[in-house]
Formats: sequence, C-alpha cells, structure tokens
Amino acid sequence: MSCILAFVLAIAATCLSVEAQDVSLSPRAELPPGASEIVPKGFASFGIQASSFPYYFGNDKKVLRVGGTNGDQAIYDPSQEAAVTSADGPVIGGKGIPMNLTLGPSFFEGFKQLPAQWVFGIPFIDFNKTNSRKQAELFVRNAGISQIQALEIGNEPDLYKAVAHDAVVPPSAYVSKWHDYASNIRSDISGLRTPIWQALCLARAEGHDPLTLAKILQAGVLNNAIKSISMHYYQKTTSTGFEMQHTLLNHKYIKSGLAPHIDNVRYLRHNGHPDLEYVLGETGRYPVDRNAQPSSMADANFGSALWTVDMMLYAMSQNISRINMQQGVEMGFAAWHPIKAGKYAASVTAPFYAQVFVADVIGKENNTRIVELKTTEEGNGFQEFAAAYAIYNSGGLSKIAIVNLQRYVANGTDSVRPQRTFKLNKLPSLVQGATIKKLSGPGSEALNNVSYGGKQWLVENHGKETTASDDDTVHRDITGNSLTLQVDDSQAVLVVLERGKNIQAANQEL
Ligand SMILES: *[C@@H]1O[C@H](CO)[C@@H](O)[C@H](O)[C@H]1NC(C)=O
Ligand SMILES: *[C@@H]1O[C@H](CO)[C@@H](O)[C@H](O)[C@H]1NC(C)=O
Ligand SMILES: *[C@@H]1O[C@H](CO)[C@@H](O)[C@H](O)[C@H]1NC(C)=O
Ligand SMILES: *[C@@H]1O[C@H](CO)[C@@H](O)[C@H](O)[C@H]1NC(C)=O
Ligand SMILES: *[C@@H]1O[C@H](CO)[C@@H](O)[C@H](O)[C@H]1NC(C)=O
Ligand SMILES: *[C@@H]1O[C@H](CO)[C@@H](O)[C@H](O)[C@H]1NC(C)=O
Repeated sequence: MSCILAFVLAIAATCLSVEAQDVSLSPRAELPPGASEIVPKGFASFGIQASSFPYYFGNDKKVLRVGGTNGDQAIYDPSQEAAVTSADGPVIGGKGIPMNLTLGPSFFEGFKQLPAQWVFGIPFIDFNKTNSRKQAELFVRNAGISQIQALEIGNEPDLYKAVAHDAVVPPSAYVSKWHDYASNIRSDISGLRTPIWQALCLARAEGHDPLTLAKILQAGVLNNAIKSISMHYYQKTTSTGFEMQHTLLNHKYIKSGLAPHIDNVRYLRHNGHPDLEYVLGETGRYPVDRNAQPSSMADANFGSALWTVDMMLYAMSQNISRINMQQGVEMGFAAWHPIKAGKYAASVTAPFYAQVFVADVIGKENNTRIVELKTTEEGNGFQEFAAAYAIYNSGGLSKIAIVNLQRYVANGTDSVRPQRTFKLNKLPSLVQGATIKKLSGPGSEALNNVSYGGKQWLVENHGKETTASDDDTVHRDITGNSLTLQVDDSQAVLVVLERGKNIQAANQEL
C-alpha cells in the first residue's frame, strides 16, 4: 500500500516538475522601452474597512484609505462614546462587513494617531449632505491638511442601483450630484490642496453599466478637480490544495485578472488624461466560490504573500500608481489582525511580508522604474509558474525580483525542497556582487515562520522587526556578467546588485 502511494506521489511530482526547466533572464543594463513610469513611494499601501478602523494602527509611510461599503452609509453622532457601532449586529463577530454604522467623535480622533497620508471616503449613498460635510470636516480637522492624500465621495456607486438609488443613473446624474457634494465640501473647508479628489471608486475595472469609467469621464466628472482615479479589485483565487496552482500561484492568471485595469490605464493615457494616477483603491481576494468557501485564516497563508508580490509588481510595471490592500479585522487575507476577532487570532500574517518585499523593491532611491522580464528560454514569452522583474534607478539596472510560484506543500518529512535554477545574463560589467534577500516560508500553505531578508514581524513582539533565527540572506560575487541562482519552489527573492567595491566575499551557494 505505501509502495503504491509513493508511486502515485512520484508521478504527481513528475507531472508538476515538467515545467521546471532552467529560466534565463536577460535584463537590459539600461532602462528599456516599455518600462514603467517612476513608481510612487507609497505604491504598496493599505486600505481599512471603516468598521475596523479603530482597531488598526501601527504602520508608517503608507497611504491609508479609510472607507468601503460600510463607510459610505455611516452616520455621525456627536454624542456617541464608542468610535463605531452598528445597527446591523456586533461590529466584530457579526457579518464581517457590518452595515448601518454610527461613528462617534473618537472614530475621527483615530486620524491623529498616525502621520500617514490618508484617503478618506466621504459618505454619499444616503444623500445626506449635512452628514457628508460633517464627516469631511471632522476628518480634515483630525488628520491635518498636510496628511491628506485625497478625498473620495461615495464608494462603488456603480452598485447603488442594486440598492434602489436610481438617482446616480445615468452618468450625467451621478456627475452632477458628485459635483454638488464636491463643491459643497470645498467651499466649507479651507486649505484643501488642488486637486484633492480621488474619483470613481467603482466596484470593478469595467464598472457596472451605465456607470463605467469611460461613460463617467465622458459625462465630465473631471474638470481639473481630480488627482486620481480609484478602481476596486478583488481576484477570485483558491487558497489551498492543488487548485491554488491554477489561480493564486499562477502568473498567467494573476496577469489576466489585472488586464481590464491595464486597459483602463491605457484608456486614460490615450483619451486626454495621461497625468491622472490610476489607483487600485481597494484590493484583495475572494474564494472562487464565495458562498461555499467563506474567508478564512488560510487566505493569509504564504501562497497569498507570493500572489501579493507578483500582483503588485506586475501592476507596478504597467503604470498603476498605488495599491491599497484592503484590511478588516474579519478579512482572511488581511496583512495583520490587530485584535482577536471571531475566528481570526491577533497576528501579523504572510501578506504583510509581501508588502515589505514590494516596499524594498521600490527602495529609497529616486526614480525607480520596473519592467517585467521574459521567463522562457526563447526569450519571447512568459511562464505560468515563474515571474521576474528588473528594477532601474536613474536609468541603470539595480535589482531583479524573482517569484517562483511553483506550489510547495511542506509535509513534515526531511525531504529536499525542490528548487528552480534562474540564470541572470548580461549583467552590467560594473556589477561585481549581489545581495540576495529571500521571502521565505515553510510552504505555500504555511501560516507561520515566514521571513523576509532574515527579518520577522511577530505579534509576540507587537509587530516590531526582529531577526529570524535563520537569516537566509546571502551575498554572491559576480564575475563574467552572469549569476546563476537557485530559488526554492514557493519563494521570492530580491537580487540587489552591487557595483564596484564593498562586496562581502561570502562565496556561498544559495
Ligand atoms: C507605462 O509607461 C511607459 C513610460 O511612459 C510606457 O512606455 C508604457 O507603454 C506604459 N504602459 C502602460 C500600460 O500604459
Ligand atoms: C440600515 O439602513 C437601511 C437604509 O440605509 C435601512 O433600510 C435598514 O432598515 C437599516 N437597518 C437597520 C438594522 O437599522
Ligand atoms: C443626516 O446625518 C446627520 C448626522 O451627520 C444625522 O443626524 C441625521 O439624522 C441624518 N439625516 C437623515 C435623514 O438620516
Ligand atoms: C532623491 O532626490 C532628492 C531631491 O532631488 C535628493 O535630495 C536625494 O538626495 C535623492 N536621494 C537619493 C537616494 O538619491
Ligand atoms: C513530501 O514532499 C517531498 C518533496 O516534495 C516528496 O518528495 C515526498 O514524497 C513527500 N512525502 C510525503 C509523505 O508526502
Ligand atoms: C514556527 O512558528 C511557530 C508559531 O509561531 C513557533 O511556535 C515555532 O517556534 C516556529 N518554528 C521555528 C523553527 O521558528
């Protein structure tokens, strides 16, 4: 019996590794045509569901968006002591996205806690102008003018029709109502920068007819008042089992999900709005069958971190300006859970590490640009289970990011983890070494023991950075303009190129 089992497993392993030939990468030494625009420093950002906002503090230098469906219909009550209450059951342990929120003054005091760049969603759906103005004013007063990235009016108006708010249909009606609210708030609050608005916030790339990106822009929502367009993006993915290889851990699938957004980026560029930033203002994942598979802690496993890295780097390479990963205390894919909530333990999850990886790709250097690299031997195509990107600073190649999306499930044996060989060719001749920082986890379904660059952020240490017991960062000398490295199945690495001297001569194998 065990013999047959081993045989079956061996077949399975063989089938999966058919694709795993060596991958040649040939990044250009100088910025190639088609590389991205300069990547904004706040690209890898967070968004927080309004009802969860009081529980989420503790990140820096990110753009934080507070809003969502439940924020859109929240009412302000100056006499309420609690930050947030819900007429829809408990704020925690109820429906996950509790509706009918009432916000008290302490909700808005939350904006004082962090010197972040905030995006705040002003309620719209109930067309209560007093309420919208009051919340905008409280937000601005507490956050401070200089901390405001943008203001939004309403959330996913393309879905309002479903809740019988026909007043925003057709697009011309939406646009005139939107302008009414925008000018009302603007005339009431002095000091707001121009432009200040982040517009649209449609539920998906296409919007829902008749409220689509193209139709709203044609109806004239712009008039120089807008700095960015936000659209929402959730990809349907499977978090566990073999099926994750076809969705979560699949470069082709990851690209296909973003394709309609990339079309929008091109649309803006070719229809008179080349300077408008295109933001994925609410981003996350849904199970393929949302009803059969409710969100769970497994949605924050290590595979989810690899999905986040590849999704973000690809979006970056296609001129998307920012991604706000949506957070909520009862969202499975959240990057961290500030408190225990229902089935979710307080934790820093694997997707948080993905955000650190992406922030490191962008780095502190000026003028970061990125381009996707071909991953096939012939150099004219892309593979499903591997992705690679070249990063440029001031026009010169500085880093290479590689994601090995081959699913690996740790099974408790001491067997050797499969690796894939990546060959970096034609490196600039001044490059004499590289530091290889790894985003590692015990396997694609692992929930713990994740590290990036030998660092960990654990709830036991209140999320503060600590050094992992096993720092797997390595330094390599580079001679002959090429570097061959092994990347574990289900691992991402950032190869930081070093020019000239100061190379630690630890000539270790990876
Ligand atoms: C991104 O910007 C670069 C530089 O302007 C351009 O070459 C490229 O075509 C753009 N890509 C998209 C999808 O707009
Ligand atoms: C929530 O608000 C909607 C209107 O926005 C209303 O129809 C519904 O009765 C409210 N539910 C509760 C529990 O207050
Ligand atoms: C409008 O919002 C205010 C709070 O800002 C609230 O006191 C008032 O009841 C709301 N009006 C309606 C009709 O819901
Ligand atoms: C980035 O640009 C700013 C302003 O031009 C400059 O002060 C700073 O030194 C630059 N930083 C790096 C790392 O080159
Ligand atoms: C555990 O995984 C390794 C590596 O994929 C494999 O060789 C081995 O057969 C697996 N063992 C079991 C019991 O699944
Ligand atoms: C893995 O994580 C668990 C849970 O956080 C912890 O108890 C264990 O010590 C970790 N193992 C290693 C090798 O770090």
